[in-house]
Amino acid sequence: EAIEKGGYEHFMLKEINEQPRSIADCMRGRLDAKNGRLVLGGLRDYMNKFQNAERIIITACGTSWHAGLVAEYLFEEFARIPVEVEYASEFRYRNPVVSEKDFVIAISQSGETADTLAAIELAKSKGATIFGVCNVVGSSIARATHAGSYTHAGPEIGVASTKAFTAQISVLTMMALKLGYQRGTLPESRYIQLLSELETIPGKVEKALKLNDQIEKIAAEYKDSRNFLYLGRGYNFPVALEGALKLKEISYIHAEGYPAAEMKHGPIALIDEEMPVVFIATKDSSYEKVVSNIQEVKARKGKIIAVVTEGDTSVRNLADHVIEIPATEEAFVPLLAVVPLQILSYHIAVMRGCNVDQPRNLAKSVTVE
Ligand code: AGP
Repeated sequence: EAIEKGGYEHFMLKEINEQPRSIADCMRGRLDAKNGRLVLGGLRDYMNKFQNAERIIITACGTSWHAGLVAEYLFEEFARIPVEVEYASEFRYRNPVVSEKDFVIAISQSGETADTLAAIELAKSKGATIFGVCNVVGSSIARATHAGSYTHAGPEIGVASTKAFTAQISVLTMMALKLGYQRGTLPESRYIQLLSELETIPGKVEKALKLNDQIEKIAAEYKDSRNFLYLGRGYNFPVALEGALKLKEISYIHAEGYPAAEMKHGPIALIDEEMPVVFIATKDSSYEKVVSNIQEVKARKGKIIAVVTEGDTSVRNLADHVIEIPATEEAFVPLLAVVPLQILSYHIAVMRGCNVDQPRNLAKSVTVE
């Protein structure tokens, strides 16, 4: 096992650190920005269906569902197709309205999640086309779908999903860009620009991993907190949900992820000097609004840990801690912003003496409903 961990203390830490490579592996042979090429083999025979779909329905559970939520923003922004993101466990029992005009994307690391599999069967019985985004080759979900693209992240052993999440987002990003380009909603020059930026992401993740020591110090300060709040907007809202899920599943600290603007509709009542609030406050279209949310938390004496874009000075003046990540396109920020949150939850869990790779009550894949 020590050899399998490749010198790391836990699989989770190894998998966090593998992300520059796993994201690059996921893009290898698919993305070639210099020549303006983006090829997803699995889509080839289904591109027509995909392009002409009236609606995209994304179904998944847990972290994979969070990747699906990021994809909702991606598909709507670049391809202008309406998207619904469904918890597989709800979708399967709701008698949902689904037809042959829908393109369903099922996302699963293991490819064995029982609820996701049942959601696929239901959508299939209603005539929809089902596309899988799985990590495990030959898994039940990969076999049950009409077509799919593997994430190629390599085996993920830690129960808390890390590198599979960023690989899922990488595949979904490529799908959204391809779809937008084919549908003509994403102009060629912009398409090429986005492809080039996407190619820089593994290098930028590498840079984000260097934040480890700084984040470890922050973890030491907050490891005994009883609650955490994670707030983000737009593309960073799913990142907030994912940050909270990572913390609760491995450290057993209660954590909630929320869209930052919803704070005033309830969670703001929780804020006092005992409450750490993690903001994802990168320089994007909602930056100013998130900064005012930070001010609201500061006024109530909450402790502020902010993930910001390199060089940011405004948030530095307000936050107790700032974690700087490299700048990128707004649509690609989740791939970078989630990394410090994975590292934060990892260190907090280790400091609390938790079994990071096999947290209590959890299984790597949930094959029962
Ligand atoms: C993630 O850290 C969790 N362990 C869990 O939410 C997981 O993402 C979920 O069970 C879905 O699994 P799947 O991707 O293998 O379908």
